[in-house]
Amino acid sequence: MNKRIAILAGDGIGPEVITQAQLVLDAICAKFGHTFSYTEALVGAAAIDATGDPYPADTHEVCMQSDAVLFGAIGHPKYDNDPHAKVRPEQGLLRMRKALGLYANLRPVVSYPSLFDKSPLKNDRLVGVDFLVLRELISGIYFGEPRGRSENGEMAFDTCVYRKDEIDPMLHLAFESARKRKNKVTLVDKANVLATSRLWRERFQEIAPQYPDVTADTIFVDNAAMQLILNPAQFDVMVTGNLFGDILSDEGSVLAGSLGILPSASIGEHTSVFEPVHGSYPQATGQNRANPLAAILSAAMLLETAFGLTEEAALVRSAVEVAMSTNQVTEDLGGTLGTKEVGAFIVSQIS
Ligand code: NAD
Ligand code: IPM
Ligand code: MN
Repeated sequence: MNKRIAILAGDGIGPEVITQAQLVLDAICAKFGHTFSYTEALVGAAAIDATGDPYPADTHEVCMQSDAVLFGAIGHPKYDNDPHAKVRPEQGLLRMRKALGLYANLRPVVSYPSLFDKSPLKNDRLVGVDFLVLRELISGIYFGEPRGRSENGEMAFDTCVYRKDEIDPMLHLAFESARKRKNKVTLVDKANVLATSRLWRERFQEIAPQYPDVTADTIFVDNAAMQLILNPAQFDVMVTGNLFGDILSDEGSVLAGSLGILPSASIGEHTSVFEPVHGSYPQATGQNRANPLAAILSAAMLLETAFGLTEEAALVRSAVEVAMSTNQVTEDLGGTLGTKEVGAFIVSQIS
């Protein structure tokens, strides 16, 4: 199979973890006789430094011309610590998602038995934890207008907007995903307070009966945040809006063992993007300390979701599980290996 992959490594630990994911893809190509051609493009703070724009037109063109995008992370402390900065790395990521029409972000969370001891939760809570956070990605409070500041600067506002035609595809995707998993969908919202959440609930009540074989449940987001710690195995597909999905997936990473192992896929109208859930982890930049497994598992999602290469994806995942069960992991999982060494171990398991 011949495919084109756009590489948007971004900032901080992005380039380090993406390099390892690419080496894993190369190993898959060598083993299965595929050819992937890579085109690197700028995004985030690196793109601002080079061009003044966190998502340059050239980068968008590369994404559009590719069969899949492998994305690292964006973000830099110089912007995190400057609330006045008008141009920000995060705008690059948000603009890419919007321009590619990536309305659904799939964030699987699994508690691997070999990592139970890495989670602060008691082991018995982690048995059977395997859920999918299905996060709406290009609407809600992240994109609603108007947004901004009052003229005197003493008031700021964001707007949360959801339309029926943005909600319905998410709900159908949730029910269809549940059919391939454990047949349960939980809508996470704040319908007791927010008008947008009430529209999600209304659409949920309309659509759920079309999937009589799937259990449909609703939960308020504050309770969901608690239930994720108290009894996480109850969840299968958690479908939710942009902001709640962002927060709950980071919370979910504690069940998995580390934010450094959570992958994601963003799908929609144009080229799909595969990216770790984590950010640019600036404290670890250039130190060979970052866990590359989230990026490597994102590459596995790319193989499966974008190219339909299920056997190849399964091989990557099983190599990752061997790394976990034999403690060939980075410090966040209690190991002693560096980013490169973990990548090399995965490659050695594949080759
Ligand atoms: P972060 O995800 O970068 O890091 C939070 C913590 O998670 C770290 O302190 C570390 O303990 C752990 N962690 C994250 N990635 C890890 C890895 N690969 N290996 C081991 N441990 C890991 O989030 P933050 O500190 O809140 O934000 C840092 C910057 O990243 C900000 O500029 C933020 O805007 C940006 N960010 C970008 C993305 C993205 O590109 N998708 C996501 C989140 C945050
Ligand atoms: C993520 C990140 C982004 C988000 C930020 C960096 C814009 O937190 O991918 O989870 O909030 O979507
Ligand atoms: Mn996030």
